[in-house]
Amino acid sequence: MNSSPPLPATGAVARLSRHAQVLSGQLQALSATLFAPTSRKALRSFSSGEVARFLGVSDGYLRQLSLDGLGPSPALSSGGRRSYTPAQLGELRAFLAQSRPREALDFLPRRRAGDKLQVVAVANFKGGSAKTTTALYLSQFLALEGYRVLALDLDPQASLSSMFGYQPEFDIGEGETLYGAIRYDEARRPMREVVRPTYFEGVSIVPGNLELMEFEHHTPRAMVERSLRGADLFFRRVAGAIAEVEADFDVVVVDCPPQLGYLTMGALNAATALLVTIHPQMVDVASMSQFLLMTSDVMAVIEEAGGRLDYDFIRYVVTRHDPNDVPETQIVALLRNLFGEDVLGATVWKSTAIANAGLTKQSLYELDKGAVGRAAYERALDSVNGANQEILNLVKKVWGR
Ligand SMILES: Nc1ncnc2c1ncn2[C@@H]1O[C@H](COP(=O)(O)OP(=O)(O)O)[C@@H](O)[C@H]1O
Ligand SMILES: [Mg+2]
Repeated sequence: MNSSPPLPATGAVARLSRHAQVLSGQLQALSATLFAPTSRKALRSFSSGEVARFLGVSDGYLRQLSLDGLGPSPALSSGGRRSYTPAQLGELRAFLAQSRPREALDFLPRRRAGDKLQVVAVANFKGGSAKTTTALYLSQFLALEGYRVLALDLDPQASLSSMFGYQPEFDIGEGETLYGAIRYDEARRPMREVVRPTYFEGVSIVPGNLELMEFEHHTPRAMVERSLRGADLFFRRVAGAIAEVEADFDVVVVDCPPQLGYLTMGALNAATALLVTIHPQMVDVASMSQFLLMTSDVMAVIEEAGGRLDYDFIRYVVTRHDPNDVPETQIVALLRNLFGEDVLGATVWKSTAIANAGLTKQSLYELDKGAVGRAAYERALDSVNGANQEILNLVKKVWGR
């Protein structure tokens, strides 16, 4: 026998920990060269055509406004093209809402007194079912439409945070995730302190990182050691934290972790609406039926404990869909047959533009059209916008609009 003896446990621990260090150092170096750090990441300007579409007015009207010196002054390119910064888009909204008061709600659509804060949870146990992508695009879409959005990253892997320019390992310190605001000990801090701005105008984030796992570890002990009641109950803590900052936002979008732990239960309890993402392939649909069974069991437990789970809407969102793939199309038809209008009408198409945008940490909303093939970009963006618009319509319905 010339094979080396098995590593002693301590040797293995040391080795893994060294690997972790080496990898972490490399990742940091890589990310510093590949992606601009948060401070430098900025949202691009929008052409007046894009702005006209966001606002639901004609480009000619915007042109007239700028000629008349009304509202923010767009930048002029040498070719005479006008463009607006994201902040100017906000100023235009405010200006139009004021000068055309009868349409104020169209230009400045934030929720009004009495409109319930919308907490939209994106969930599924299946990794890769596009939860994070769905949460990202929904948050950005709503912000561009003029809503104040809080993105809540509950996944310890924190890919939503990194899409928004925060590297979970390096930029997020202790107590700076949602855990900081829902923990059981004295280190608990106000929710306001863990909400951060993002470079994407209109979107704030509570970032995630591995620290979120602490909630899973400490909850069982806290349940035994303390007799927690009311808002202190583990499944009410996420809702309680959101309530602290509710006045600042119209919609909270929650990227749930890919398992059913205490944190997910908290998110399900805080949510006013649920989006279940599905990649339309047989294995994914099979695992989704497990997700639904377990989720409904857990919801029953929460309700028995006095929690309320009445969602304004539940929708299945078909994502990464290849409409030219016959088996996939059959699965989508099956889902529509089974769940009827609970399946969102629009499906998000599988697109290299979206996959690449995930790698370069820039969404389709941030890319200039020239950066990807124009037709491919338009198709992908249309499918994303179609799904997001339907979700927004559901939200507006809740607000009685
Ligand atoms: N519509 C799409 N087309 C192509 N790739 C996609 C699409 N949506 C998501 N992806 C890619 O699939 C992978 C998994 O998506 P992600 O949103 O991270 O899933 P989850 O959060 O459920 O694990 C990512 O690499 C992402 O870029
Ligand atoms: Mg994810």
